[in-house]
Amino acid sequence: MRIDKWLSNTGFGSRKEVKQLLKSGAVKLNGTVIKDPKTQADPDKDQVVVHGEEAIYKEFIYLMMNKPDGVISATEDSRHETVIDLLELEDQSFEPFPVGRLDKDTEGLLILTNDGQLAHSLLSPKKHVPKTYFAKINGSIPEDTYEKFKQGVVLEDGYHTQPAKLEVITNGLEESEIYLTITEGKFHQVKRMFEAVERKVIYLKRVQMGSLKLDESLPLGTYRELTEEELSLLSERRNVFE
Ligand code: URA
Repeated sequence: MRIDKWLSNTGFGSRKEVKQLLKSGAVKLNGTVIKDPKTQADPDKDQVVVHGEEAIYKEFIYLMMNKPDGVISATEDSRHETVIDLLELEDQSFEPFPVGRLDKDTEGLLILTNDGQLAHSLLSPKKHVPKTYFAKINGSIPEDTYEKFKQGVVLEDGYHTQPAKLEVITNGLEESEIYLTITEGKFHQVKRMFEAVERKVIYLKRVQMGSLKLDESLPLGTYRELTEEELSLLSERRNVFE
């Protein structure tokens, strides 16, 4: 790999900034000062030191974001701000992408990574990774909704959903609050499941994926790296009805 990629992935700024750093003579490869950004280095064998400190190469990045309303969960959009626009340039240099989509108006837990294998295993329909949403619903929740969602409901396009677990937090005449755990990720799934029982989702927030919970201390629009432990929680399977 080129040394400029190594350095920008290790937090030394953009490729342009890294070029300046190299030019200043601050970078040593296996003990020898190098100045050419095209110099090749192998993370398995070579040692890179910047201003006397080792720059350990990191291939993958795993971020937890508390996605705000109004931002698209895609890598690019010609008209709207994307979740990638909310990342520091240093983190953008890893070329992360969102793992699955949240609607523009949905808030909450979004994982961003450049680890395609992890993303695939979390998104694969065969893996049934549970995702829990908090929602505000217009009107009250009829008593039979728990059972209907447990059996799966038929959406307006005829699709029969997998069993989903409903927990009612407050059941009000005007507005109710619930948690819904689903194991698939059809387009607008939570909203469409409530439409199937003649209710409307008026606020939606993802709070959990696998066994990983949203860090509620993260203000909307901010993010942080996942810890090793959180990374393993993400792939942990759990029976949603236990
Ligand atoms: N279900 C929805 O309806 N929207 C989302 O953003 C996620 C799940």
